[in-house]
Amino acid sequence: MQILQIISSAQGAKSYSTQLSQGIIDKLLAAHPGSQVVVRNLAANPLPYLEEAHLQAYFTPAESRSAEQQAAVHHSDEAIAQVQGADVLVIGVPFYNFTVPASLKSWLDHLTRANLTFRYTPTGPEGLITGKKVYLAIASGGIYSAGPMQANDFAAPYLRWMLGFLGMTDVTVARAEGVKLPELQAQAVQKGIDSVTV
Ligand SMILES: Cc1cc2nc3c(=O)[nH]c(=O)nc-3n(C[C@H](O)[C@H](O)[C@H](O)COP(=O)(O)O)c2cc1C
Repeated sequence: MQILQIISSAQGAKSYSTQLSQGIIDKLLAAHPGSQVVVRNLAANPLPYLEEAHLQAYFTPAESRSAEQQAAVHHSDEAIAQVQGADVLVIGVPFYNFTVPASLKSWLDHLTRANLTFRYTPTGPEGLITGKKVYLAIASGGIYSAGPMQANDFAAPYLRWMLGFLGMTDVTVARAEGVKLPELQAQAVQKGIDSVTV
């Protein structure tokens, strides 16, 4: 089994979302010995924000692209190939300002290509990245899975929708939450790991 780990925390080894991701990956490796893990660190190696050059390249047929347009589309082609090559994605999500980090949003922007990763049909949009299992490992300072702040979680609903739009509909959400709350911090990661059955 091929596992793609996406890191988007800027906090290195201290990152709760990365620790939670690692716990999920350890479970996957125990259940599927011999699996391979590819790590993509978006915080250390961010993709550029979409600019005019990217968009022009996307909408130019591959055989007609200039050298600059081929270079512009490279990030996207490479990110898509990496996802298509995986059976399972484990996406680490630090909860920043009520949603996902910009680096993760940028990765999704580069994955989203008409007629390559989604298409419009007479019955509506169809995602073309299918057959994947996705685990979201979300770390947040507060509590968003229930209670008064649940309505302000613009990370999990956004990711579920966006990944589903691309065809990745089998999504499990695991949370290390309340990491800024002294009474919850110590157990937050383990609780998230324990919530996942692989
Ligand atoms: C820039 C920034 C924004 C944050 N915004 C929120 C927030 O809106 N809500 C919240 O509960 N925690 C927030 N936090 C706390 C993080 O969610 C928490 O530190 C989490 O552990 C980050 O994930 P990481 O440990 O993988 O980096 C924020 C932290 C940072 C650095």
